[in-house]
Amino acid sequence: MTHASAPRGVRLLGTGSAVPPAELTNKDLEKILDTTDEWIHQRTGITARRICDPGREGTYTLARDAVSRALEASKRRAEDLDLVICATCTAEMTCPSTACRITGALGATRAGAFDLTAACSGFVYAMNVADTLIRSGRFQRIGVVGADAMSTMVDYTDRSVSILFGDAAGAAILEADPDPSRGCIHQTLSADGSDWRTLYMPRRCQEIPPGEESNPIRLGYLRMHGREVFRFAVTKFREVIEEALSATKLTPDDVSQFICHQSNRRIIETAIEKIGLPRDKVHVNIDRYGNSSAGSVGLCLDELWRAGKIPQGRPMILVAFGGGLTWASSVWNV
Ligand code: UT7
Repeated sequence: MTHASAPRGVRLLGTGSAVPPAELTNKDLEKILDTTDEWIHQRTGITARRICDPGREGTYTLARDAVSRALEASKRRAEDLDLVICATCTAEMTCPSTACRITGALGATRAGAFDLTAACSGFVYAMNVADTLIRSGRFQRIGVVGADAMSTMVDYTDRSVSILFGDAAGAAILEADPDPSRGCIHQTLSADGSDWRTLYMPRRCQEIPPGEESNPIRLGYLRMHGREVFRFAVTKFREVIEEALSATKLTPDDVSQFICHQSNRRIIETAIEKIGLPRDKVHVNIDRYGNSSAGSVGLCLDELWRAGKIPQGRPMILVAFGGGLTWASSVWNV
């Protein structure tokens, strides 16, 4: 691939998403866990989440369907893509990557493909990486998808974790544009690996950090120190939005939508209050889908895009944070 020397921007052509049809409600969870609908709703804002049927659905099928719908919305064919990036931490296989399977299934014969792991921050990481690659001149058109089937790594005997998560995928098709001011105009891609143990999934006993051995840990399942992650999320949420606004000299009024990872409704509400964000510009769907990790920001983007709430010519801001610990923001001139 050759390098295009003229500065270029990135156009968001269209979006797509996919969720499994089966719903797991708080009332369903009441039957298998020592919990109540009231507790879950009060602490998280969640009423229901979508859960894969393990025999038929998973991260790969959700990601594939989301990209397929995004291509359709963008009026582009799979063969037009020259790269697919799939952000996920629940890939069925690490070899091949989920992105490779998507290219095979959809017929994206010209595309390179790789998975990216940044937990709940994955979709925003992938959008920033894709924007940078297109601006480099080496890529023309990239399919980005965030997908997680969290139900496959949640222990449904652990009430402190299982109530929070659901399964979903959200995708976007990005294309080179002659206007360099279009696309990502400011981004944060950050991590603090020293705090990884607040949210992790150990596969082997060796991975269990000192001090945690006494807690009952089922290998292969997500482990979370909820209160610590909550504190981290509230702090980072505010920091990255304030930093993004100040770096771009935008005010909340200039921004069409703040598209935030759906971690917990209380985290989103706290940010709205502390930063003073206009409530109608912060989309919330956690009540219906729970926290779908890398799927959540793309799913929100697709809902807003299809509802006509992402007008061209105005900036939107994507924000996410999660395991790693990782966090990311992206200011987009749409
Ligand atoms: O996507 C990024 C990753 N994750 C997040 O962003 C999640 C961030 N954290 C959270 O959302 C919240 O910490 C949770 C929703 C996970 C938990 O809410 P919390 O208000 O932090 O509850 P807690 O863990 O402090 O527990 C409070 C009490 C405890 O009882 P005691 O010790 O006060 O008697 C828990 O045992 O609530 C109890 N509890 C429950 N009770 C009923 C914990 N889980 C449940 C439950 N149902 N499901």
